[in-house]
Amino acid sequence: MMGGKRHNLEGGRRAGAERRGRVIFSGGGPSSPPLLNLFFTKQGRLFLDCLPPGYPSLRCVSLPPHLFCFCTSSTPPPPPPSLCSLCVWGLSNMVPPNVATIMAAGVAALTLRFVSKRKAKSDHGERVEDEELEDGESPTVGVVPVTVAWDRIECILRDKRGNVIKRLLQGVSGEAKAGKLLAIMGPSGSGKTTLLNVLAGQLAASPRLRLTGSLSINGRPFSKSKHRVAYVRQEDLFFSQLTVRETLALAAELQLPKTWKPNARERYVQELLYRLGLVSCADTIVGDAKVRGISGGEKKRLSIACELIASPSIIFADEPTTGLDAFQAERVMETLRKLAEEGHTVVCSIHQPRGSIYSKFDDLILLSSGAVVYAGPAADHALKYFADLGHKCPEHTNPAEYFADLISIDYSSSDNEIAARKKVADLVEAFASKQKKIGRDNPLTALDLLMDPDDEKFIHDTVVSNRSGFLWQFQMLLRRAWRQTTRDKSTNRVRGTMSITSALIFGSIFWRMGRSQTSIQDRMGLLQVAAINTAMSALTKTVNVFPKERAIVQREQAKGSYSLAPYLIAKLVAEAPVSAAFPLMFGAVVYPMTRLNPSLQRFLTFSGVMTVEAFAASAMGLTVGAIAPTTEAALALGPSLMTVFIVFGGYYVNSDNTPTIFRWIPKVSLIRWAFQALSINEFKGLTFDVKNSFDLQDGDQVLERLSFGGKNVQNAVNQELRIALFWYWLTYVLLKRNKAKFQVLEAPSKVTPHELAVEDV
Ligand SMILES: Nc1ncnc2c1ncn2[C@@H]1O[C@H](COP(=O)(O)OP(=O)(O)O)[C@@H](O)[C@H]1O
Ligand SMILES: [Mg+2]
Repeated sequence: MMGGKRHNLEGGRRAGAERRGRVIFSGGGPSSPPLLNLFFTKQGRLFLDCLPPGYPSLRCVSLPPHLFCFCTSSTPPPPPPSLCSLCVWGLSNMVPPNVATIMAAGVAALTLRFVSKRKAKSDHGERVEDEELEDGESPTVGVVPVTVAWDRIECILRDKRGNVIKRLLQGVSGEAKAGKLLAIMGPSGSGKTTLLNVLAGQLAASPRLRLTGSLSINGRPFSKSKHRVAYVRQEDLFFSQLTVRETLALAAELQLPKTWKPNARERYVQELLYRLGLVSCADTIVGDAKVRGISGGEKKRLSIACELIASPSIIFADEPTTGLDAFQAERVMETLRKLAEEGHTVVCSIHQPRGSIYSKFDDLILLSSGAVVYAGPAADHALKYFADLGHKCPEHTNPAEYFADLISIDYSSSDNEIAARKKVADLVEAFASKQKKIGRDNPLTALDLLMDPDDEKFIHDTVVSNRSGFLWQFQMLLRRAWRQTTRDKSTNRVRGTMSITSALIFGSIFWRMGRSQTSIQDRMGLLQVAAINTAMSALTKTVNVFPKERAIVQREQAKGSYSLAPYLIAKLVAEAPVSAAFPLMFGAVVYPMTRLNPSLQRFLTFSGVMTVEAFAASAMGLTVGAIAPTTEAALALGPSLMTVFIVFGGYYVNSDNTPTIFRWIPKVSLIRWAFQALSINEFKGLTFDVKNSFDLQDGDQVLERLSFGGKNVQNAVNQELRIALFWYWLTYVLLKRNKAKFQVLEAPSKVTPHELAVEDV
C-alpha cells in the first residue's frame, strides 16, 4: 500500500516540477535540497511545495485549487492519504530544520493562506483550476480527506399503533477513515444496506421508522457538512443506448461547473475511464436486458466512475460485487481499493467475499441482526479478537467465510437456532464491553482528524459546483434523449412493424369501403379502432420504459444535476419525431386500403390527429409511470385507465346518453377527442347511397347522430392538446412531489427506554 503512495507521490512530484514557473522563494536546511519552494506557476498562481513530516509545523492538505499546501501543527502529522498532482510531499530528504527556515515557512504559509482564501472567495465556489486550465494541461481534482464517525445509531421499525416491531440497527457505532477501505459484512437482512443508507444520509423517510444517533464528518454534524458523498447503489441504472464514454461525458457535463472548458472535461472523462479500467469498453453501449452491452462488472465500475465525477471525499457502495463473477468482483474491489489509496474514504457492504477480496479491506464491521459483532481492523486484529473469545479461525480458512458462519443464525432446528442466537448475542455483548478498549488499541480509530475547521471551510468554498442554466441543461438532456430514442433500433423496429401490421389487418377488414349505408358503421368502427390502436401503442411503449428512466432521473435529481422542466421538455422534443412516425406509417397504409375520404387534405388531417393523440397517450403514460412503483404496476394501471377512456370514447356510449355522474369522463378522454376529430374529418361533406327514406344521406347527419354536429376538427384537436398538456403537467407535479425524502437523524437522547423495549429482535 505504501508502495502505491510513493508511486503517487513521485508522479505528483514530476507533475509539480513540470508546472513550475518562476521560483520566488527557496528555503531549506544547511544541506540541499531545499525544503521549501514558493513560486508562481506558469498560470501565475502562487504555489508552495510541501515539506516533509517530522518538520515541526508541517501538514499537507491537498486541496482542489492547489493554492497552498501548508498548515501548522505542533505534532508531526501522518502523510496525507492522497496527493494531488500539484502537491509535493517530501517523505525523503529530511533535513533538520533551522530557525530561519521555520520562520520563512511561517511567513510563506500565512501569505499563501491569505492569498488563497481571497482567491477562493472571488471564485464564488467554483473550482479554481477550472478557469485556468489551458489546452493540453490535464485537469486534476483533489480529494479532501474525511473521517466519518457515527455513534449509537438506532433504527427502529414500528407498527401503525407505534409499537416497536424490529430494531433494524441497534446502537451501531464506528468510524470510516480517509484512505481506508471499510467493509460492512453480515448475513442477508443484518442491516448492511440500512446502515449504508444512514451513513449516506439517504435512508428513505417513513412514518414507521425512527432513526436516532449521531453522525459526523471530520468532527462536524453530518447535516452541516458539505462534503460530497458518492453512493453506488446495488442496482446499476443507465440509459441503455448511450456508450460508456457518452454516459460519463454527460454526467461530467451536468455535474461539473460550466467553467470547465470542453477539452478539460474530455480529458477528465478520459482520465476516469483509465482509472476505472473502462477504456476497452468506452465506445460500447451500456445495454440492458434486451440489447447486449457491457458486462456487469463494467456496469458497476461505470456506476463508480459516474459517482466520482464530483470528486467525492466519501464513497459508499452497497454490495458492489453481488451478481458478478469472481474475476469481475475482484476488479471492482480492486477499483475501490485504489480509490481508498487515492485518499477517498470508502465504505462498502459485502455479503461473503473471497479471501483475495477480504485481504483488500483495511477495516471491518460485522453486523448481525442490526447489532455490531465486531468493528476494527480487518486483518490479524479481527482474527485475534475472535480467537481471544474462543473462536479461532482454522488455518487456511478464508476469514470472511469463518466470520459469516460465526454470526449467521442456523434455522435447521429450533435447538440450533436458540444456540446460534445465544452465541451471536454473547458476541454482541462481548464487543459492546470491549468497544472502548479496541478504540484505544487501534491506531486507525484513534487517528486525529486531518483538518482543522478553517481548512474545511476553505474546501467547501472551493468544491461546491454551480448548477448550469436551463438552456445548457436542456441541450445536454436533449442530446441524451435523442440518442436513447433514435438508437433503440429494436424497440423502433417492433413499433414500426406493429403499426404496419395493424394497418394491414384493419385495411384488410375494412377493405375499400364504399358509400353504402352499411359503410357508415364500418367507417365509425375503423376510426374508433384507429384511435384506440394509436393510443394504446403509444401508452404501452411509454409505461414500459418510463418507470426505469424515472428511477435514474430521481437519482440525478437527488444529486441536483438538473431541473425537471428541461428534462421533460427535452424528452418531449427528442421523442416527437419518432413518436409521430408510427401513426403516420399506420395512416399511410390504412387510409388508401380502406378508401377513407379521398382527399390529400383529409389524409393529412387524419395523420395529424393521430399524431396529437399519440402524444397525449404518451403523456398519460408518463403520468402512470410517475405514479406506479414498478414497470409491472404501470403496465397494469395504464391500459385499465385507458379502457375507461375507450368506453367513453364517443362510439360505445353516446355522450348525450352518458349518466350525469360520468359526464366529465368523455371530456377528458383522449380517445373521444381523437374519435371526434377523425369523424368530423371523415364525414363532413361525404354523401351516401340512399335506398330508403330513413337512410342517412350525408356525413353531417352521421355527425348529428354521434352528437358531433356543428363541431369542427380544430376544436377537438385543441381539446386533445389540452389533455396532453394536462398529463405533462401532472407528470411534472408528481415527479416533483415524489422527490426522495430522507429520514431525519434525531439525537440519541430522544429515544425513550419504552421505545427500545423490543420483545423480539
Ligand atoms: N423501510 C423498511 N421498512 C421495514 N423493514 C425494513 C425497512 N428497511 C429495512 N427493513 C428490514 O430491515 C432488515 C435489514 O435490511 P437491510 O439493511 O436491507 O439488510 P441487508 O442489506 O444486510 O441485507 C431486513 O429485515 C429488512 O426487511
Ligand atoms: Mg442489502
